[in-house]
Amino acid sequence: MHFNWAFSGIRPAKPINMSKEKILVIGASGQIGVELTLALRAIYGNANVVASDLREENELLRGSGPYVSLDVMNKEMLHVQVIRQNITQIYLLAAILSATGEKNPNLAWHLNMQGLLNVLDIAREEKLQKVYWPSSIAVFGPTSPKQNCPQQTIIEPTTVYGISKYAGEFWCNYFHHRFGVDVRSIRYPGLISYKSAPGGGTTDYAIEIFHEAKEHQKYTCFLREDTYLPMMYMPDAIRATIELMEAPSSRIAVRTSYNVSGMSFSPREIAAEIQKHIPGFTIAYTPDYRQAIADSWPQSIDDSAARHDWGWKNEFDLPSMTTDMLENL
Ligand code: NAD
Ligand code: SER
Repeated sequence: MHFNWAFSGIRPAKPINMSKEKILVIGASGQIGVELTLALRAIYGNANVVASDLREENELLRGSGPYVSLDVMNKEMLHVQVIRQNITQIYLLAAILSATGEKNPNLAWHLNMQGLLNVLDIAREEKLQKVYWPSSIAVFGPTSPKQNCPQQTIIEPTTVYGISKYAGEFWCNYFHHRFGVDVRSIRYPGLISYKSAPGGGTTDYAIEIFHEAKEHQKYTCFLREDTYLPMMYMPDAIRATIELMEAPSSRIAVRTSYNVSGMSFSPREIAAEIQKHIPGFTIAYTPDYRQAIADSWPQSIDDSAARHDWGWKNEFDLPSMTTDMLENL
């Protein structure tokens, strides 16, 4: 049985035999988790994608498939669920992001590292088919190139989030080469979406600005007007994730994490784009501690390795993303 791609809006790299896979999404109630779970359910069938999270099931997931309450830090319970549910693939999305991480570095390091190690260990023991774990542009630091930051370059992150992601990339690489775990990863840029709320990142301003523009026609940004950052619209991020996971293993040359690029803009530029739709919209700037985090990251990303290896190509740019966000919010 094969899924109807025309209906889903997601194109597969190749037809997928849905009956073989049983997927566990950890952190399914978060910004990415909700949309990724729904996309995976559309492909593999609702019953074959188990959503899980520490917090309650997101309302957009309710009634669409199985949900279990699960703490990724509790390795024993995670292992029980993997065996009980006959899981073949895990998508690990539970993490603490950059801005929240700077407020509680110990917690961020603990969750971001131990959660990943728990999943990788279980994947090795249970011989899971595949694991997905996202990294971030936050691996790059002030000494990395600012423009078109390459796949391989100087990487000296200055946030606890970036340090945890960079260490995590090498754990993935290690488990692949040492134990044969088919773990795959993308360095997401800042992700922009309207379905579920963001979870404490530095790039969250690019979501808040839409909500405030629609509700109050004004926004006070916590970054300076000229702060360029790499960004991506959620439909592109979900498609990148699924295309990476569906690519033949032989095409995945990078076993740390792939750079992917969508667009790059500053608060001033996104405000100007919103003003084309809402002419009365105004923006003010009051930079806070998140400015230093943003200043440590590249402004744009070179993703030629992902394009070459598994055919990645983004669709959304700033104008098309802005139109879609304002139509759907
Ligand atoms: P989010 O904060 O919105 O969601 C994370 C989810 O994990 C939450 O629902 C949270 O309740 C859950 N969680 C936290 N601790 C848990 C635990 N111990 N056990 C089980 N669940 C737990 O984050 P997101 O934006 O959806 O990010 C998902 C992944 O993508 C993270 O690894 C993040 O670093 C990465 N990423 C996100 C972005 C972005 O812009 N959103 C960019 C780069 C990378
Ligand atoms: N959007 C994320 C953050 O700002 C990047 O990983 O933390």
